[in-house]
Amino acid sequence: MTTTWHDEGPVALTGERVRLREFTPDDLDGVRGVVGDDRVTHFLSFTTRNEAQARELLQTIIERGQERPRREYFLAVTPLEPDNPADQDKAVGFTRLQRTNEHSGRLVYAIAHDHQGRGYAGDAVRTLLDFAFGRLRLHRVTAAVGPDNRAGLALVKRLGFTREGVLRDHVRTGGAWRDSVLFSMLAPEWSRTSEF
Ligand SMILES: CC(C)(COP(=O)(O)OP(=O)(O)OC[C@H]1O[C@@H](n2cnc3c(N)ncnc32)[C@H](O)[C@@H]1OP(=O)(O)O)[C@@H](O)C(=O)NCCC(=O)NCCS
Repeated sequence: MTTTWHDEGPVALTGERVRLREFTPDDLDGVRGVVGDDRVTHFLSFTTRNEAQARELLQTIIERGQERPRREYFLAVTPLEPDNPADQDKAVGFTRLQRTNEHSGRLVYAIAHDHQGRGYAGDAVRTLLDFAFGRLRLHRVTAAVGPDNRAGLALVKRLGFTREGVLRDHVRTGGAWRDSVLFSMLAPEWSRTSEF
């Protein structure tokens, strides 16, 4: 079966609470709000980035978004109804689907601390999975979450991912090794829980 990591054009996906879109050079504040905050990066696989590093990351995200075939969909999460209307289309987080092979991808998600707890990540990941199993025709999507990351674990469990096991010393962060719990979702499982 042919998958569509080769898909043309920028991606924009609309969920119930958020929209996912390609990052642009105007998103530096949004990127900094996530990767520049210890409270968020503590649960990710890298340490907090300063402004120059965040700018470099944003540039890399934009360049990779233009590759064909794509190695990843690293998309900005923007609330459909932000508390402050001036924040319309502002990036408050990201979802990232990295190609691990033609038929599978790895999922990462993060929301800026001040915007957490509003269902943004749940809706963003659900929307990205519809895209992954629908338009991209992937068979398998994995997520590796730290064993102490209660919010991160709650999200994949709520969406129906299956726990596969523990990846020992999976990431090195904050000067120490950290295990991850590996979760997966397969296309037939997702099709039973979603409408695509
Ligand atoms: C994980 C994360 C993305 C969740 O973002 P969010 O927008 O707040 O998520 P949602 O509001 O959609 O829902 C989060 C779920 O976690 C639960 N939750 C939130 N904080 C929690 C906590 N401290 N302990 C337990 N559960 C928690 C929420 O209740 C919700 O579950 P529910 O719908 O069953 O009640 C966010 O906390 C984050 O960015 N963390 C840092 C990055 C990260 O851990 N990424 C995951 C690893 S890839």
